[in-house]
Amino acid sequence: MQLTDTFGRVHNYLRLSLTHHCNFKCIYCMPQTHAAFPAKSIMNADEIDAFANIFYTLGVNKIRLTGGEPLLRKDAGEIIERLSKYPVALSITTNGARLHHYLSSFKRAGLKSVNISLDTLQEKKFLAITKTNFFSQVWENIHQMLHEGFRVKINMVLMKGVNDEEIIDFVALTKDTDLEVRFIEYMPFNGNLWESKKVMSQTELLGLIAAKYNFSSKTGNLHDTANHYQVDNFLGSFATISTMSHPFCSGCNRMRLTADGKMKNCLFSKKETDLLTAYRNGEDVVPFIKQSILEKAFATGGQFYGDFNKINVSNIRNRSMVDIGG
Ligand code: GTP
Ligand code: 5AD
Ligand code: SF4
Repeated sequence: MQLTDTFGRVHNYLRLSLTHHCNFKCIYCMPQTHAAFPAKSIMNADEIDAFANIFYTLGVNKIRLTGGEPLLRKDAGEIIERLSKYPVALSITTNGARLHHYLSSFKRAGLKSVNISLDTLQEKKFLAITKTNFFSQVWENIHQMLHEGFRVKINMVLMKGVNDEEIIDFVALTKDTDLEVRFIEYMPFNGNLWESKKVMSQTELLGLIAAKYNFSSKTGNLHDTANHYQVDNFLGSFATISTMSHPFCSGCNRMRLTADGKMKNCLFSKKETDLLTAYRNGEDVVPFIKQSILEKAFATGGQFYGDFNKINVSNIRNRSMVDIGG
């Protein structure tokens, strides 16, 4: 069975948020005031397992665990190991601070790929961006993951006037190390201090890198959020995630389930489908999932964000990023 929308896009990638809690307070993600959800409104491990099974039977072949910070959840290891019974590519997006506690769980689960957020290579700036002093721990964990043979991608949210003078330092990380650095165009969400003047577009970024390095494009797959590049003779690669200047909705294969069990058919969709309440009421959730996919617009993101200079942030009706999971 396949979840195909009205534009013929097959949805086989589930982004599953384990929690809306986070031990960081990144300026581009966490709003100033962040309400806690009652514990009982959050999916428990059995419910997460059940949803993974349902989405698997609907054709999902990739599940990415997100948050908040997914590894803050006390039963994160158990959940990861339980999900490993589904023949899907299982991966995780994390801030990296607690990775060292999960190496053996990842190995038992066959999880091989980890996307780690790191927006600066400078300890002081790390504190200013994340409001925590976990820089050394994250840096150590990145190297430990590489040493243990995991595929590592670094997610760097690029913000003009904040971390844009570090672009070349980030590209330089890929010289002798086989990792991918992904420069992400800053996206607007509720309460995240977004301003169009802080967005560095993919075109501007590539121009800047071209002034220093010769690089070429690498082929990716149709559904990638990222465009990939490699500097001549470098071991690793870099990439751009260009939601704001070049939205990539035509290849979208993604669905989201928030930690409180709401399905979002798009990162920017206002409408959410409450799967958890239906499931707890003993209802069959499959028709709700199919309906949500049939209602998916071609480009909720693309429509609004193609010309990012025209965005009026106060018109955005969405949750904050920490509650969606990216
Ligand atoms: P890979 O599976 O390794 O390609 O990772 P990914 O890019 O799918 O996921 P990740 O969690 O690393 O997210 C990287 C960036 O892409 C974050 O800024 C996400 O918010 C953004 N992103 C992920 N999915 C989508 C999407 O469907 N639309 C848009 N516009 N951005 C997305
Ligand atoms: N714009 C772009 N990317 C963001 N992320 C969080 N907030 C934003 C934003 N406003 C990224 C994080 C994480 C991924 C899930 O989403 O850096 O790596
Ligand atoms: Fe998919 Fe929506 Fe992201 Fe476009 S903005 S790529 S439709 S999730």
